[in-house]
Amino acid sequence: MTDYEKFLSRAGQSMRESAIRKMGTVLAQARDVISFAPGYPAEDSFPWQAFSEIARELLSGTDGSVLQYGPTRGFRPLREAIVALMKERDIQTSVDQLVVSTGSQQGLDLVARVLLDPGDVVLLELPSYTGAITAFRNVGASLVGVQQDDAGIDLEALERAWAAEHSAGRRVKFLYLVPNFQNPTGLLLGLDRRQAVLEWAARRDVLIVEDDPYKDLFFPDVASVADTRPIAADDRDGRVVYLSSFSKTLAPGFRVAWMHAPEALAAKFELAKQAEDLCSGGLDQRVVYEACRRGLLARQLPTLRAHYQHKRDVMVRGLRAKLGNTVYWPDPRGGFFLWLRLAEPLRSDELLPLAQARGVIFVTGSAFFVDGWGRQHLRLSFSAPSPDRIEEGVSRLAAAIGDLADASANVGAREAR
Ligand SMILES: Cc1ncc(COP(=O)(O)O)c(C=O)c1O
Repeated sequence: MTDYEKFLSRAGQSMRESAIRKMGTVLAQARDVISFAPGYPAEDSFPWQAFSEIARELLSGTDGSVLQYGPTRGFRPLREAIVALMKERDIQTSVDQLVVSTGSQQGLDLVARVLLDPGDVVLLELPSYTGAITAFRNVGASLVGVQQDDAGIDLEALERAWAAEHSAGRRVKFLYLVPNFQNPTGLLLGLDRRQAVLEWAARRDVLIVEDDPYKDLFFPDVASVADTRPIAADDRDGRVVYLSSFSKTLAPGFRVAWMHAPEALAAKFELAKQAEDLCSGGLDQRVVYEACRRGLLARQLPTLRAHYQHKRDVMVRGLRAKLGNTVYWPDPRGGFFLWLRLAEPLRSDELLPLAQARGVIFVTGSAFFVDGWGRQHLRLSFSAPSPDRIEEGVSRLAAAIGDLADASANVGAREAR
């Protein structure tokens, strides 16, 4: 047998499967499992009919470029549509500052390749999005977590983390943030903190990578568009690289997202992207462009907000009824996720096999922490299952938590004897 380990690069050796993707495999193998694991949009909310009309027109064969290679930066009319969309977010940009990426996940990889050398420091929230953690780790960056509270990243902890790295002679390249309905906590960064983070970055000469796929999915009962103002909207000196995506608002299968950056950096992202995939899928970009041009995206948004707000309600109601005050979570004000903290001494990695046995899965908290913490937490995604399945899933989860609490009480009683 060939030993492939010896052929692997250092990056290849250290690559690990994402905990979220792993849960996808569990789901594919099991019967009647309710999944609160991946942050998938609801398939019944996809505008199937409109997409199929657009695709039929595009594939009529009248325009050969539809199935041709395209520019690395992206289909120009789509970039123009994104300029308009960014204007609605109060972000000034131009087609020369934009790169269409194959999902924001590729954007994160391009950021890593263009900005990070092995040993460079990235500061990021504790906990943080696993896909970003993986992209930054793959290029050998050193990831330093910063505490957050219910209003997002703690600015004093941020300054302390920067100072510790700086005085140890390490270069902090950027701060990675998901200010709107963060994955995995669902938290919304306070507006005053957004401003303060920008000022801090200028003071410490650090870039900000703002990852914003959930901005449009605020829940109107507790949040408004004003609460989701991007940090990039107030960036006057080109400090922010801003990523957003059509994955959560149109469909992730298109793999169409975008990055906005100062022109000099956008040019580098383009070069890095040339080596990755030459260009994002041309048909996908055109479908997304048509969805913008025909007003489909704008029409979708209120429907999606109501859809996910309702699912949030169902999950929260179920948790309150079944688990009362034995668990804690910050109420999600938008997005796909609810971040649950178990009572001491329960641990989510011990809960997972019991939950699986009861037919429900989630992602354990430690997957999102760069410092080994998070075992008391779990991420529940309420976006994909139907309201009925959410109710049933919460019942199963509550039963599994009961199983774990019983097992833990028995161990406690044995130890006390
Ligand atoms: C915070 C965050 N960034 C990026 C992504 C990747 O999105 P895309 O489908 O655009 O690659 C996700 C997807 O879950 C996400 O939650």
